[in-house]
This record gives sequence, C-alpha cells and structure tokens, in this order.
Amino acid sequence: MTGMTDNALVPESVFLPASHASVSLQRCASCQMVLDALDPSPDCPRCRGLLEIVHRAPRDRQGHAMDASALRASFSQHCCVRSLGHGDPENAPLAQASGVWRFESLVMPGAGTAIVSHPEGNTPLLSRPAISRYAGLVSLLIKHEGHNPTGSFKDRGMTAGVTQAMRIGAQAVACASTGNTSAALASYAAQAGIPGLVFVPAGKIAIGKLAQTLAFGARTLLVRGDFDVCLRLVQEASRELGIYLLNSINPWRVEGQKTIVLELLQQLDWQPPDFLVLPAGNLGNTSAFGKALREARELGLIDRVPRLVAVQAAGAAPFARAFPEGFSTRYRVQAETVATAIRIGDPASWDRAVRAITETNGLVISCSDAEIIDAKMIIDAAGVGCEPASAASVAGVRQLVREGIIGAQDRVVALLTGHVLKDPGMLVELHQQREDVMHANRPIEIDATVSAVADVLQRTRAAALAGA
Ligand code: F0G
Repeated sequence: MTGMTDNALVPESVFLPASHASVSLQRCASCQMVLDALDPSPDCPRCRGLLEIVHRAPRDRQGHAMDASALRASFSQHCCVRSLGHGDPENAPLAQASGVWRFESLVMPGAGTAIVSHPEGNTPLLSRPAISRYAGLVSLLIKHEGHNPTGSFKDRGMTAGVTQAMRIGAQAVACASTGNTSAALASYAAQAGIPGLVFVPAGKIAIGKLAQTLAFGARTLLVRGDFDVCLRLVQEASRELGIYLLNSINPWRVEGQKTIVLELLQQLDWQPPDFLVLPAGNLGNTSAFGKALREARELGLIDRVPRLVAVQAAGAAPFARAFPEGFSTRYRVQAETVATAIRIGDPASWDRAVRAITETNGLVISCSDAEIIDAKMIIDAAGVGCEPASAASVAGVRQLVREGIIGAQDRVVALLTGHVLKDPGMLVELHQQREDVMHANRPIEIDATVSAVADVLQRTRAAALAGA
C-alpha cells in the first residue's frame, strides 16, 4: 500500500468503511498520498505535507460497525483501573484502563501487546469557585492534564508514539521540545528500552522538565537556538540518521492526544460544552482536538461540537495574528514569552490546526505574559496549580467573557496542560525574588521559638481578616 493512492479511500473521509481490509492507514493531508500504517516517514515522502491517520470505523467482534451506544459502552468498560504491567500479554487488557488505551479503537486499533503504557490519562475535571469567579463564569470546568505521569498532556501522545516505535522496530526515538515532550519521551523510551534523543533550546526550558529528562536517561542536547531551530534540526537528523521522529507532527502522537477530548466528553456524559479552551504553541493539540471532535461527531458520539479556542502568548502568536485574516498568511515570528512551553514562532501543525478552528467555528486569541501570570497565580492559590503556559487557557476565557463572546452561563472547559512543579524557577522568582508581585507568598525566616510562631500566626490571622 505504501506510496499508492488507495481508491477505496475517499479523499477527506473521516473513517475507512467498516469492511475495509486495513485497520488504519496514513494519509497526506495535502496530496492525499496513502502510506501503510507501519511506514516510519515523519511526513509525506512526495510533498512533505503533514500525515494523518485514518482508521477503519470501529467494529464489534462479529465484524459489524459499532453504533454510538455500543462504542460508549466499550469505552466505559475498563474505565479508571489503575494498574498495568508492560509487555505481559496477561496484563494487556489492563492497558485499556489507561485514559488513552480504553479508546484504542480510535487511537491505534490492534496495538495489543505492543502497548507501552504507564498508564496515563484518567485526569480530573475540576471546578473551583475562585477560578470560576476570576474567569467571570458561574462555573468553569478545568481538565487538568498536569495529573499525567510526567506531569503534562504529552504522555497521551507519547504512549501512542512510543508504542508505534515498538511496532515498527525503531532503533531510537527523538524529538525537539520546549521541555514537556522531552520529559514524556524520556520516560516512555526508558520503559520501552529504546534510546531517546532530545533537542531542547539551551537555557530556555523550565528546570523541572530538564530535570525529568535527565533523570529518565534520554540523551539531552542543549541546542544553541530556539525551539524552531531545534525542530528543524531534529527533522533533518531523523531523516538522515533513520531515527523515529516523535514530535507532534508524528500523526500517532495526535491520535493519543485526541483522548483528552474523548475522555472529557465521556466525563460530561457526551454532552459537549459550548467552548473548549486550550493553550497553543506548536498547534499539535489544537489539531488533535479538531480531529477528535470530527470523529466523535461522525460516529454519533456527540451531535454538535464545542467552539475550540486556541490561546497563544502575545509574544509567540503567529496563529492568533493570522486568525482575523482568515489564515490567508502563514506568519512566522521570533518568539518571546515567560510561558516557555509555548515559546514557538513557527508552529509545525499549522494546516491541521486551521482545519480544527474552521470546522468548530473556533477562535484564536492571545494573552500578554502579565495576564498569563496573573491567571496562574489565581489557579495556584486555589490549590490547583499549573505551569505558566497552562494558565493561558484561563486567561483566554477571562478575556472572552470580558469581550462578551463567552456568556457567564455558558458551559466552558479550560485545559490545564502542565503541573505546577514543571517550572519551580518561576515560582521562586514570583514568591521570593521579585518586588513588584502582588500577593507574593514570601517565606518567613524565624528563630526556633514558639513565640516566633505565635507572632506569625497572629499576623496571618490579621491579614486574613483584613482581606475578608
Ligand atoms: N502547554 C504546555 C504545558 C506545553 O508543553 C505545550 C507544548 C503546549 C501547551 C502547547 O501545545 O504545542 O500542541 O500547541 N509543548 C511542546 C513541548 C512544544 O515540546 O513540550 P501545542
């Protein structure tokens, strides 16, 4: 099948017919060229376009196409069982308990015993009055992907990506990263027992992410250049050296990340929200969300789609700049923002993300660094916590409520993408070092006496009363 045009595959079709011989194929989103599911090419060999996965419509054991209620029941069957052993066929069914692999039929049907799973996913949907109030909503729902094993949503794409690496017999895996992808790659490559190589911008990734990547044993290259330089380098190196590329241009990563939306819809009893708001950098997640919603609607799992809102940092906002012009220009910028995870000036998944925004009647906006940090401090102080880039989603909701685009009663879900401990350097700076930060929670050095503690307690109570 590699390199051929599959006549049975109608261009733009969301699924292969249930009777199709292949379980999954890869298709170039630009020229429609079709590749076998096990082809390791990072992009289209003919036109360098982005690849996407097309699955056969899910079937039951008798080979019949499954309707929406049968599918929902199959997703619920293994929900939230938390233990898993890797590589043991006896435990393979437990992989489906993962928040990714219980959706296996829509991610990588037939992955079976190749699955490399921590497990991951099964992340909570939270609501906190202080955060809702800040956003200007009656109730803001928060899907917190920082609860994944390495502390970010990247684990969902990486379990699929590393599983695919095992399926094709890859000798090594690589990625460029602003930090979270590298931590996830390092963890899953270690579990799979294959060497991992990561390319990160020297001096520009948060310390927690670098620490994880080193701890999990990936070869870590501190590249003199920004993320966009790292991505170009890893693409070239993978092509020349035959390393399997695991950036989010890898279509299997997108398949794994779709499960954020599938799991969210399941948590909402398949009643979609009005808006689904997420931070955006390289646009892999925006693309994955668009594909998940397209497929969920095609399968009848939902009858309408939420409006997707992609939020960029103002200093790294080429996609937000293109949005009001109908995406007629593909902008590239020199990116700068405190939200290092989304410090990206030339997003790779641009075309896929345009489709996601267009199909969902979505929006792309940007927030300043000050707005992002302000939102982060509210999220942190509510006891939820997140890394800086994550807070762009809540800052974005607040902006759209103020502009009257989101109504106070609307059902809104904001995605938090990474854990508060990803960027401890930023926390120390905000709470201990900077003089200009309102609500900084400064640590207090005391003599080792009870009266010193009593003094602090009294001042804390007085401050609480003054604030109430
Ligand atoms: N939030 C966090 C915490 C991220 O780490 C990223 C991307 C994003 C949002 C944006 O997602 O790129 O799919 O639009 N981090 C990548 C990395 C680039 O290398 O870890 P996106």
